[in-house]
Amino acid sequence: NLGVISIPVVVTVVYSNSQENISQAQIDSQIAVMNADFRKNNSDASNTPSEFASLVADTEVQFTLAGVRRFSSSTTQWGTNDAVKGQYPPVSPATTLNIWVCNIGGGILGYAQFPGGPAATDGVVVGPNYFGNTGYVSAPFNKGRTVTHEVGHYLNLRHIWGDGRCNQDDYVADTPSSDGPNYGCPSYPTTNCRSTDMTMNYMDYTNDSCMYMFSEGQKSRLRTVFASSGPRAAMAP
Ligand code: ARG
Ligand code: ZN
Ligand code: CA
Repeated sequence: NLGVISIPVVVTVVYSNSQENISQAQIDSQIAVMNADFRKNNSDASNTPSEFASLVADTEVQFTLAGVRRFSSSTTQWGTNDAVKGQYPPVSPATTLNIWVCNIGGGILGYAQFPGGPAATDGVVVGPNYFGNTGYVSAPFNKGRTVTHEVGHYLNLRHIWGDGRCNQDDYVADTPSSDGPNYGCPSYPTTNCRSTDMTMNYMDYTNDSCMYMFSEGQKSRLRTVFASSGPRAAMAP
C-alpha cells in the first residue's frame, strides 16, 4: 500500500487565438476537478445508483499544479499524431504528468498515452474548451471530466466496454461487461450483455455531468502502475 500518491502536473497551453489562451482560473479549475474526482470528493458521487454505490473508489491519487507554459502558435489544429509534443517536449515525464492544452480538431476532446510508452510523448492532450469547468468551456463537456477520463488512460485504465463487444474485457472485474460506449446521459438502468452498464463511470463516453465514479477494481488496476516494478514507479513516494 503506497498511501496517497501526489502527482505534479505541468500544463502547456498552445494557442492560436486569445480564446485558446485559457486563464489561470480555468487551469486551476481543472486541477480542482481532478482532485475531487480521483479522491471521491466530487459532490455528484452521491448520484451513484445503489447497485454500484459500494464500488465507488477514492483512488488515493491527487495532483498539484507544478507549472504552466504558454506558447503562441500559428497551428490551429494539432490532430492526434503527437505533433504538439514534438514541438513543445514534456517536462520531466518520468515524475510529472504533462498536459498539453491545444485545439486537436476533428471533434476530438482529448487523447492520452498509456503507461509504458515513449517518454517523449508521455502525457495527455486536451482541447482548451474541454479543459476545466470555467472560462472557455463547451457544454456538455464543460465539467473537466475529459481530463479525468484521459488521466484514467494515462494510468492504464481502458474504456469501460473494453473497446469491444460483450466478451471484450477492460481487465477490471467489478465493471460490468458492455456492448459499446454509452453517450449523452443514459437513464438507469441501461442494460447490455445481461448486466447493468456502469454508464456513470469516467471511462465511458457519457456527458461530463453524467459520469462521476471510478470503481474499486479500477483503483486497484491504476495503482499497480506505481508499484516498484510498474511503469510509473518514479511517481510513487
Ligand atoms: N474521446 C475521448 C477518449 O476516448 C474522451 C472522451 C471524454 N468524455 C467526456 N465526457 N468528457 O479518450
Ligand atoms: Zn478514452
Ligand atoms: Ca469489466
